[in-house]
Amino acid sequence: MAPLLAAVILCAGKGTRMKSAQAKVLHPLLGRPLFSYAVELAQSVGASPIVVVVGHQAAEVRAAVAAQGSSAPIRFAIQKEQRGTGHAVLCAQIELTQHRGPVLILYGDVPLLSAQTLHALRAAYARAKAPLALVATHREQPFGYGRLVRKGGRVARVVEERDCTPAQAKIREVNAGIYLVDSAFLWESLRQVKGHNAQGELYLTDVVERAARKGEVGVVNADVAETMGVNDRVELAEAGALLRARINGEHMRAGVTLVDPHSTFIAPDCEIAPDCVIGPSVSLSAVQLEAGVRVDQGCVLSRVRVGERTHLKPYSVAEDAVIGRECKVGPFAHLRPGTVLANQVHLGNFVETKKTRLGTGAKANHLSYLGDAEIGASVNIGAGTITCNYDGVHKHPTRIDAGAFIGSDTQLVAPVTVGAGAYVGAGTTVTQDVPAGSLALSRVPQVVKKNWAKKKGR
Ligand code: UD1
Ligand code: CA
Repeated sequence: MAPLLAAVILCAGKGTRMKSAQAKVLHPLLGRPLFSYAVELAQSVGASPIVVVVGHQAAEVRAAVAAQGSSAPIRFAIQKEQRGTGHAVLCAQIELTQHRGPVLILYGDVPLLSAQTLHALRAAYARAKAPLALVATHREQPFGYGRLVRKGGRVARVVEERDCTPAQAKIREVNAGIYLVDSAFLWESLRQVKGHNAQGELYLTDVVERAARKGEVGVVNADVAETMGVNDRVELAEAGALLRARINGEHMRAGVTLVDPHSTFIAPDCEIAPDCVIGPSVSLSAVQLEAGVRVDQGCVLSRVRVGERTHLKPYSVAEDAVIGRECKVGPFAHLRPGTVLANQVHLGNFVETKKTRLGTGAKANHLSYLGDAEIGASVNIGAGTITCNYDGVHKHPTRIDAGAFIGSDTQLVAPVTVGAGAYVGAGTTVTQDVPAGSLALSRVPQVVKKNWAKKKGR
């Protein structure tokens, strides 16, 4: 059995090149913080515990890690001053005093690495004669990365961009910043690392040279895209585009039509069944779509579940919502948190819902606000109907039972109930409950003054 694997994820740096008030690892990549990809990867290969080293904006990073949730225990180590990647790993030691065996080290700014590459790294570590294996890649443009200096074909050390001689600067084999290291060797050699370099920092990469003196270091060659580090906003956008292409490709190969994949944003946590059709400029995060759902152009969905053969028409927005089977939503519908649509519900243009349930076959086709409402099956909500749910201090509920008919331009002053099969005449302000089967009307009778204009001399 392979020895237990612990992981250390470096997230303490400020990310100076981002030129941001926000720590680099908190910047979102496809809707999630940059560091979260490394944490999830460590979990996916069964690392436990996982130590996240935090420093710059430590409280915010900790909160974001907690919000992400994790199947493996996560510990935090504080690096008060950012004195380099080697120093950051040393700060994690106190959390790993019980751990024997290999430590996986990941950088929080390398988000696209795959689990396969980590499996290959484990195999390379098992084979290596040295207590360390690392991931490398060949880059046409190696600028900014540590270069792998080889002697007699073997990796001898890693030299950082700033410390390179002109000849070393030409080396295209670079360090990806992902290592598997024996813990006893790691702590021992980190204590000996000195900051004799252009930045006066303790470089984790110096451990490579120490390992190479013990034997041949394991090297796994990975794809350029997988190993890219995000140091500025150009690279953040590049990583976003690569990740998007990867996710979109997986969905298309699994039977989902993306009309214009270049403009489609699908976060990593979406489930989309075959024969769904996603239009251009659609953005989906934490969304589940059953078979045959159509999402037209410009829709934005987050934390949404949609049943089969539903049609989300252009420019609709839904958040924290459940949409049943064979519904029609939009164009321009806004489903705010707590919206639940049963099957065959129609919500038309400029309809806004919040904390509202609509029963099977209910319809609100035009220009409405439905908030804090419980709406029964087959209810018809006329154009311009408004639930007046807020009295300036409290929110109040509205209930409309099955089969009721609400005429256009009705205001329902909550709390109020309209009984099953009741009718409300157009333009009514409902301030009292309407019993089942009755008609409510609050319209002022119309007055017609004949020839009024003429009499006024108009
Ligand atoms: C690092 C490597 C380089 C490699 C590249 C791959 C070192 C010395 N260099 O360079 O060889 O090619 O990554 O992407 O390791 N961090 C801390 N505390 C610190 C400094 C950094 O936690 O004191 C964290 C950062 O938040 C970041 C990660 O470590 O997530 C990497 O730091 P960064 O400064 O981006 O290193 P690079 O210059 O990219
Ligand atoms: Ca980096």
